[in-house]
Parts: sequence; structure tokens; C-alpha cells
Amino acid sequence: MSSKQPLKSGEKILFIIFGVFFALAMIGYIVLETVRLTSDEPMYTQTTFFDFSEDGLKGSEIYRKANCNACHRALRAGTSMGLSLDGLGSKYTAERIEKFLREPEKYYHGPTIDHGYPPKEAAYVSRMSDEELRLMAIFISELKADPGSSVAKTPPPGRSEFIDAMVGSFVPQEWKEKYKDIRDKPQEEGVQEKADE
Ligand code: HEC
Repeated sequence: MSSKQPLKSGEKILFIIFGVFFALAMIGYIVLETVRLTSDEPMYTQTTFFDFSEDGLKGSEIYRKANCNACHRALRAGTSMGLSLDGLGSKYTAERIEKFLREPEKYYHGPTIDHGYPPKEAAYVSRMSDEELRLMAIFISELKADPGSSVAKTPPPGRSEFIDAMVGSFVPQEWKEKYKDIRDKPQEEGVQEKADE
């Protein structure tokens, strides 16, 4: 088997196509990284923010030690598999989050994946002490999001022509009669006070 077989022309073409794709991907990556590292402005606008109270800080400590970031993401740390807790505080109150942590299945009215009873992987969470759950819930409720961001419950302030156009063309008349436009509500905290029971 010493003599090498020359590549067939079809194989050559395939290699070339693959090579071109590879080269383009590398160039794209290098350009992206160069821009990212040299630009003064963040590449993505930051839409979540936080301002911790004393209890919130204590909660963040407990959160960190309880290994929640094995599955979650918060404050730019944790896994990127989804399940980000950033901004959750603009959707739910601390009471509501605590309720979830304590009795996840009862709260969701249905089966959960990881929180809940053993042998689920995050079953340990609802067994943590009342004080720990309370402080962690406060911490999570202080992870806020800007109105209008994908993790916020409230729409962006002011009218948006785009949203008006979408509502105008896609929302059935029936819905308009049945539901209130959230943008017409006074924009307070926008946080849901009670669990939907
Ligand atoms: C083994 C993975 C895992 C671990 C560890 C884990 N979680 Fe979760 N968490 C989930 C999953 C999955 C969900 C979605 C609900 C479900 O199916 O269990 C969730 C949901 C949540 C929610 C509700 C989010 C929402 O939008 O309703 C909160 C709050 C939460 N987790 C907090 C925590 C805290 C605090 C800890 C640590 C003490 C923790 N989690 C540890 C996997 C995990």
C-alpha cells in the first residue's frame, strides 16, 4: 500500500468547499474577537441590573454556596444552558420566588424537572432552612431587568411604532376586547404580586 491514490476531482472539490467554509469561519471569528476586544462599548446592551439590599447580599452568598449555578446563570456567572435568573425580579416578587423554592411542584401545578422531591437533582433546594430560602428569594428578586428587555414583564416605556404595527396586524379583534393592553396600565413595578392560583 505504498502508492498513494490521487484524489478524485469530486473529492478535491469537496475539500475546497470545506476549506473555504473553514477559512470564512476563522476569519469571522477573528474579526468578531478583534472588534469585541478593542471596542469601548459593550457588544450587547446590558438589559439586566441589580442593587442589592443587605439581605439580598446575604442571599447571594447562600446562593453561591448552594451550587445553584450548576444549573442556573446569574450575574454573568453559571452555566449557559439556559435557566438564567437575571431579571427574574422584574417578573416575580420575593414571596413568589420563595414559594417556588419551597414547594416547586405545588407552585407550578405540574411536574418539574429538577426542583421537587428526591431523587430530582435540585430536591435539596426545598430542604434548605426557611431563613436560607427567604434570603435567596430576596437575592433573586433583586435581579432586575430593564422594561422591554426579553426577560422583563413590562414593555419598553413610551409607544413603539413597531409594537403598534404588530398589535394592529396580528392581534385578533376578540383579544382586544377580552384583554387589556399592558402598555395602557400604569407602569409601576410591573411585578406580579400574587401567584396565579
Ligand atoms: C440540577 C439543576 C438545578 C439546580 C442545582 C438548581 N436549579 Fe433552579 N431550576 C432548575 C430547573 C430545571 C428549573 C425549572 C423548573 C423545574 O423543572 O425544576 C429551575 C427553576 C428555578 C427557579 C424558577 C424560575 C422561573 O422562571 O420560574 C428558581 C427561582 C430557581 N430555579 C432557583 C434555584 C436556586 C436558588 C437554586 C440553588 C439553591 C437552584 N435553583 C438550583 C434546575 C436547577
